[in-house]
Amino acid sequence: AAMAAERALAMATCTAPVNIAVIKYWGKRDTDLILPINSSLSVTLHQDQLKTTTTAAASRDFTEDRLWLNGKEADVGHPRVQACLREVRRLARKRRGGSEDAAALSLSYKIHIASENNFPTAAGLASSAAGYACLVSALARLYGLEEELSEVARRGSGSACRSMFGGFVQWQRGERPDGTDSLALQVAPETHWPELRVLVLVVSGEKKPVGSTAGMQTSVETSPLLKHRAEVVVPERLAQMMQHIRDRDFEGFGQLAMRDSNQFHATCLDTFPPIFYLTDVSRHIIALAHRYNAHHGHTKVAYTFDAGPNAVIFALADAVAEFVEVVRRSFPPAANGDQFVRGLPVGSAALLPELEAAVLTAPVPGAVQYILHTKPGPGPQLVDDPSQHLLGPDGLPRSRA
Ligand code: DP6
Repeated sequence: AAMAAERALAMATCTAPVNIAVIKYWGKRDTDLILPINSSLSVTLHQDQLKTTTTAAASRDFTEDRLWLNGKEADVGHPRVQACLREVRRLARKRRGGSEDAAALSLSYKIHIASENNFPTAAGLASSAAGYACLVSALARLYGLEEELSEVARRGSGSACRSMFGGFVQWQRGERPDGTDSLALQVAPETHWPELRVLVLVVSGEKKPVGSTAGMQTSVETSPLLKHRAEVVVPERLAQMMQHIRDRDFEGFGQLAMRDSNQFHATCLDTFPPIFYLTDVSRHIIALAHRYNAHHGHTKVAYTFDAGPNAVIFALADAVAEFVEVVRRSFPPAANGDQFVRGLPVGSAALLPELEAAVLTAPVPGAVQYILHTKPGPGPQLVDDPSQHLLGPDGLPRSRA
């Protein structure tokens, strides 16, 4: 009698978002399992502007695991990629629980993975969070897993666990040494705060700074401020931030986001030897935001910075056009034909003379390369259309148009 054949080739494609923390993750208590010293909270950004797409395929004809990033072959043996692969396969095995399921994809097949971003990696927009969230989502689809997998994405990059949900997301630090309670939880969906907008100010001439993984380890080892932050400051702030989000209180949300970004960068300065992620341009943007808010008498814009000089600005929709004009006047774009404002449309705004006098200072031409206008968005998505797979029927990357 013929045995039921296992599928010869299976393929799944997913997309996943970038997230920006408003209560920052900085420091691990377990570097192997990626367990943080404090909980964190982020906003998931919309995939129309920033996303990773990943196709995962398994076939009995593949002779080795392979990985392509943005069209170039990369090291599939990377320990964090391997950790994600191992965990997904372990869950798939557990789910099958030894029962014979001939229709199921063989776990012994080698896999091919192709991943690409719809934004330039060089822009320094954190891509590892979207990348690992997408890898885990695509693998989960491939093996038919339906459980929540932020715990697996966390093994790729800590912040990746927060990209497994849309909207407003908490990464709960957890207490257990095995990390089974260190996972992401959605605080509110992306529809919760429809007026919220995000402007990414991509700063020019970025050089590669100290990576997050190495930087936070030095901070854990040397910064007493980081210890105080994790033990005392973050627990209080996390509760406050969740309330501001629930209340859609931009004043509270924005103030706390700025303070938390500043404290994160203070812990970097408190690290020994110190780490500098902010540049003169970053500090210029910080001062500009404070003058702008002071002129209006309340918080109209709020900045936050990760491990690099690019500013992420939160604002309500009705403030975007005016603030973009303030940025354009402060950092006049080089007239090289590049779009200065990208993403969601931005209306035009004229600045009143009082505002100009109070907010603008001597312009710094070209310091901001471009502005990306986006908003909160949903979590990972399945791509149904097979023509969108990044791998062809032969399991190799399709030539990109
Ligand atoms: C400053 O998640 O990139 O963006 O866990 O070592 O991969 P690893 O670090 P990563 O760190 C992100 C740090 C941050 C703050 C944040 O996103 O919360």
